[in-house]
Amino acid sequence: MPRQPVTFGDDLVLPQARQAAAQWRKLVEIGRAINGTYDPRGVLELIVSSAIDLLDAQISWLGQFEGESSRYRFSAGLLRGGEPGVGEELGPEFAGEFELGHGPMVAQKLRACQPVLLPDIQLNLAGAPRPPYEERGWSMRSTLGRRGVRGVLIVPMLRHGSLRGFLGVGSAQPRDFQGHDVDLLTLLADYSIIAIGRSESLQRERDITRAEERNRMAREIHDTLAQGFTGIILQLEAAEQVLHDEPETAQTHLDRARTLARDSLQEARRSVWNLLPGPLERNTLDSAIFQEVQSLGTEGEAEVGFTATGEPYPLAVEAQTCLLRVTQEALGNIRKHAQARHVDVTLAWEQAGVSLTIRDDGRGFDPAALRGPSSSGGGFGLISMRERCQLANGVFTLESAPGDGTVIHVFLWVRRPLPERLAL
Ligand SMILES: Nc1ncnc2c1ncn2[C@@H]1O[C@H](COP(=O)(O)OP(=O)(O)OP(=O)(O)O)[C@@H](O)[C@H]1O
Ligand SMILES: [Mg+2]
Repeated sequence: MPRQPVTFGDDLVLPQARQAAAQWRKLVEIGRAINGTYDPRGVLELIVSSAIDLLDAQISWLGQFEGESSRYRFSAGLLRGGEPGVGEELGPEFAGEFELGHGPMVAQKLRACQPVLLPDIQLNLAGAPRPPYEERGWSMRSTLGRRGVRGVLIVPMLRHGSLRGFLGVGSAQPRDFQGHDVDLLTLLADYSIIAIGRSESLQRERDITRAEERNRMAREIHDTLAQGFTGIILQLEAAEQVLHDEPETAQTHLDRARTLARDSLQEARRSVWNLLPGPLERNTLDSAIFQEVQSLGTEGEAEVGFTATGEPYPLAVEAQTCLLRVTQEALGNIRKHAQARHVDVTLAWEQAGVSLTIRDDGRGFDPAALRGPSSSGGGFGLISMRERCQLANGVFTLESAPGDGTVIHVFLWVRRPLPERLAL
C-alpha cells in the first residue's frame, strides 16, 4: 500500500521546531564563548541568561563550591529583565559564602548528585527554617519567595563525579519540570564546569610558569652574582692579609678582584638577557671548561688536571651553558669547602651524549645531611646544578662522604639511540 505523506499544520510544528533551533543556537553560542575565552565570568553570565531563555524561567543562579569543601558562593545569577551579576550584585542575600546544609528537599539531593525538582516552593519548603540562621545557610524559600518564584529546578554541577556546584532556575508560576528541562539545565551545568575548569587550569599554568621563572632567576643570580661576590670576597681577604708585608701580592689579589667584579657584572647582564655565558661566546666548550680548571690551578691550592675525550660535536646552547655552570659551581665548592690536594675534570664526547666528571680528594661531606640553606646562607649550588641538568635533558649524580672526597657526574643526552629495527 503506498504511504500517505503525513503533514502537520504550521501552528503545531513551527513553535517546537523554532524552540529547538533557538536552543541549538544558544548551545552553539555558549560552546563558542567557552572556546573564545579563559575568563569564566562572561561564560557563566551567558549560561545563567541562557538558562532563563531556554527554560522560560524568572530567575537563574549558579553556586560554586570552594575546592572540596561544602562552602559555596554565587558565581553568577540573573533575574529576568535585569543584568547578570556575581554575589552581592544579585542582592544582599547572595553576598559572601554559604554552607550547604543537610535538608532533605534540596541539600541531601545535591549531595547525592541528583537534580532537585520543586513544583511549588511555597508548599514544598513550607517547613524550612527562616533566616536569620545561626550558621550561614541560604534560605531559598525567603530569598526566592520574595522575588515571586514558585517552581524550582536545580541540577548538580559535577566534575569526575564530585559535586563542584549547582545551577538552578525558578519560574513565576508553580511548575512541573520535565525530563527534557533537567537534561537542558544539566547540559548548561556541564558547560559551566568546563568553563570553570579551563580558567583553573590556566591559573595553574600561570603559577607554574611564574615558579619556573623564579627558579631560573634564582639559578642565574646564584651562578653569576653569588659566585662573583664569593670570589671577590676571597680575593679581598687574601689582599688584606698581605697588605703590609707583600704589597705586590696584595696588588695581584686586588687585580683579580677587579677582574672578577667586571666579569661578574657582564655575566649578570648576559643572564638577564638569557644569552650564552661570556666564556662560551669566546671559546669552545672544551676550552671554556679548561680555563675554569686552569684558573683554579693558578690559585695554587690544589693540583688540577683536565682531560677531554672523543670528537666534539655541535651542542645546544642550554647543554653548553649547563656543563659550564656545573663546572663553575663544582670548582667554586672545591675552593670554598673541599681543601682538596687534587682535582680532576673529565669531559667525554660520547655517542649518546656528553659526560662531565669533577673529582676532588678533599674533605667530602654527607649529602644526606644537607637540608635547607647552609650556615653561610648559601646552599643553592647543588640544587641549581641538579635543576640545570634536568632541564638540559640530563642526569646529575653526586657521591661524597666525610674524609673521602667528592665526585660530581653529569650526563646530558644529545643523541637518542635509534630503536634497533631502525638502527643502520
Ligand atoms: N666539593 C665539596 N667538598 C666538600 N664539601 C662540599 C663540596 N661541595 C659541596 N659541599 C658541601 O655541601 C654544601 C652545599 O653546597 P652548595 O653548593 O649547595 O651550597 P654552598 O656552596 O654552601 O652555598 P652556595 O649557595 O653559595 O653555593 C656546602 O655548604 C658544603 O658543606
Ligand atoms: Mg656552592
